[in-house]
Amino acid sequence: MKYFSLVTMLILGGQVLAAKPPVPVYKDKNAPVESRVEDLLKRMTLEEKIEQLNQQTVGDNNNPNNNGYKKPTFPAGIGSLIYFSADPAFRNTVQKRAMEETRLGIPILFGYDVIHGFRTIYPISLAQGCSWNPELVEEACAVAAKETKLSGIDWTFSPMIDVARDPRWGRVSEGYGEDPYTNAMFGVASVKGYQGKKLNEQYSIAACLKHYIGYGMSEGGRDYHYADISAQSLWETYMVPYEAGVKAGAATLMSGFNDISGIPASANPYTLTEVLKGRWKHDGFVVSDWGSVEQLMAQGVAKDRKEAGLKAFMAGVEMDMVDDIYGQNLKQLIDEKKVPMTKIDDAVKRILRIKFRLGLFDNPYTPIVAERYLQPESKAVAAKLATESMVLLKNKSKVLPLGSNIKSIALVGPLAKDQADLIGNWSAQGDPKDAETIIDGFNKEFAQKAQINYAKGTEIDGTDESGIAEAVAAAQKSDVVVVCLGEKKTWSGENTSRSNISLPAIQEKLVAELKKTGKPIVLVLANGRPLELVRLEPMADAIVEMWQPGVAGGTALASIISGRVNPSGKLDITFPLTTGQIPTYYDMRQSARPNSGKYQDIPTDPLYWFGHGLSYTDFTYAPISLSAAQIHKNQKLVATVEVSNTGGVTGKETALWYIASHASSISRPMKELKHFEKKEIAAGGKYVYKFEIDPMRDLSFPDADGKKHLESGDFVIMAGNQKIKFELVD
Ligand code: BGC
Repeated sequence: MKYFSLVTMLILGGQVLAAKPPVPVYKDKNAPVESRVEDLLKRMTLEEKIEQLNQQTVGDNNNPNNNGYKKPTFPAGIGSLIYFSADPAFRNTVQKRAMEETRLGIPILFGYDVIHGFRTIYPISLAQGCSWNPELVEEACAVAAKETKLSGIDWTFSPMIDVARDPRWGRVSEGYGEDPYTNAMFGVASVKGYQGKKLNEQYSIAACLKHYIGYGMSEGGRDYHYADISAQSLWETYMVPYEAGVKAGAATLMSGFNDISGIPASANPYTLTEVLKGRWKHDGFVVSDWGSVEQLMAQGVAKDRKEAGLKAFMAGVEMDMVDDIYGQNLKQLIDEKKVPMTKIDDAVKRILRIKFRLGLFDNPYTPIVAERYLQPESKAVAAKLATESMVLLKNKSKVLPLGSNIKSIALVGPLAKDQADLIGNWSAQGDPKDAETIIDGFNKEFAQKAQINYAKGTEIDGTDESGIAEAVAAAQKSDVVVVCLGEKKTWSGENTSRSNISLPAIQEKLVAELKKTGKPIVLVLANGRPLELVRLEPMADAIVEMWQPGVAGGTALASIISGRVNPSGKLDITFPLTTGQIPTYYDMRQSARPNSGKYQDIPTDPLYWFGHGLSYTDFTYAPISLSAAQIHKNQKLVATVEVSNTGGVTGKETALWYIASHASSISRPMKELKHFEKKEIAAGGKYVYKFEIDPMRDLSFPDADGKKHLESGDFVIMAGNQKIKFELVD
């Protein structure tokens, strides 16, 4: 008996060992992501599934429009968390609860708005586009991703790729300007920079294309407003960057606040499901914008929160940002058979898929690293991008660069010693104290070369003229005046629309008084949108648009003013002459009477077109050569243009290649950017720029349902001041 029980115990013991449950597939890091997703989904209760569809917040919000939502407590298991102190230790504590105190141990996805850098702030996106250097933007986004990841965050709500043609809208600063292709190229560069080659690399974070879709068209530039977008414009203008971003592998998208011609972007089954998931096969997920599910009530398409949740969820918004509408209503909507389980499962799978791809199940915690911010190599990228983003708008009589004959510079204006506004709007954990001022940059650049006479002159805004006399005195004793004007950073970004985009009268007054000294005036502009310069431009001999450059603007600007660096930026957005010209953008359609219909009171052309930007050297474009004068639809065409640097200094030139078709079955934009390339050309040197035209990609146009049409006929290709015709035949 005794013997028997010992054996039994041994056997039982053996059975206990043998019966130890195997590691579930979803916890096996070697199993394929899809098997892990399916396995986990099978184990989840409905409540656990619904938890995944919600994003909560703990406050510490760096978006002033979204305060007042502070939620001190939340359950251990949630889909995602937006905003926190950016302290990895906090993340680890919260994550530990999710991993250890919930039944299945599903990690939380931590999100944050990292718009133009996390702590090493680089220029705002509108400036980045002017660099025409997507590789550099990719590098900058990779820097941001590393700082972000080391701060306990896995997901940024960036890039914003809303084509924006109304500079009254404060959010023009957050995107890459007025052109669909430019937004597409820089959006793709950002996605690559954030996400790296694979989402589970050490410093990769998930990107979020926003705000899907049409938000940039908010009526009158008023934020959160209705967007009247025809189906044709939706496809040829607004969808272009999103399609490219999805193709580039962007993990997530955010649905916009705006109402698209009657169907809000956050309740739009056509854009969110039919196109995004159906045609483009996006297998990540869509998060609503902050409160955009609840706001369906304000937009008049939902009578209560429950109906708002039903509409958003059924349209294809998988995650509810902070509203808690899904949390409170989805169960009941399922019980009422208004939401099918298959739809819940699909939404949960999409979110889990991204969590698995990010490696969150296998590495849920963030290592605590002391040196994570403002590393020299990170600052070097920010500096390079700041330099390449600046645009020389005007240079009368070659007043710039300041030569060795300049022995004294009056450096005046409210932005000359500013830090906070140069950092720019919405700057994550950016600290104004990190920003190099313009005067610091000048002191370094002109040390032993020229005396810097500083005077502030005026504030950015207001009516105080008491400092103007000092600025005038500084001008009088100097050889040249560099006057640094601009906007406050709070005048750009969300909910910062302006009805008039000129600078405050006090700044114009400062320049008018400086002008009376007869000294050459160099205007430096630090702003987050195109400005109305109709009164300022005639008073300036030179104008440099420095935008909001981030931490490294001072030296970047000074190096351009001194000529140590040749400016190479070109505008990614048109500067209207006056606010009343809005909208004005380069790829509008031809008027029925091109020579009439002008404004009676002002010129009709804008002050600076998209693509405008000067250099200290001259680039001469030879005629464009084509590989054939006629091609068939299945053939490629190669266009080349030789550009010579005929000036005295080395410089970088961006060839912008446009295509126009003047006779197709629908009217087309006057010209469309289809390719660009930036290249440094030594003084006296040449470079042959090349554009390989793929007819379906470059010559077709979408119809009002996105179907691409390629029609035979005549086309014109343009680069620099050159253009040439070719024919497309069947
Ligand atoms: C903005 C988004 C942002 C979100 C979260 C919203 O108000 O529109 O761009 O990502 O807040 O901060």
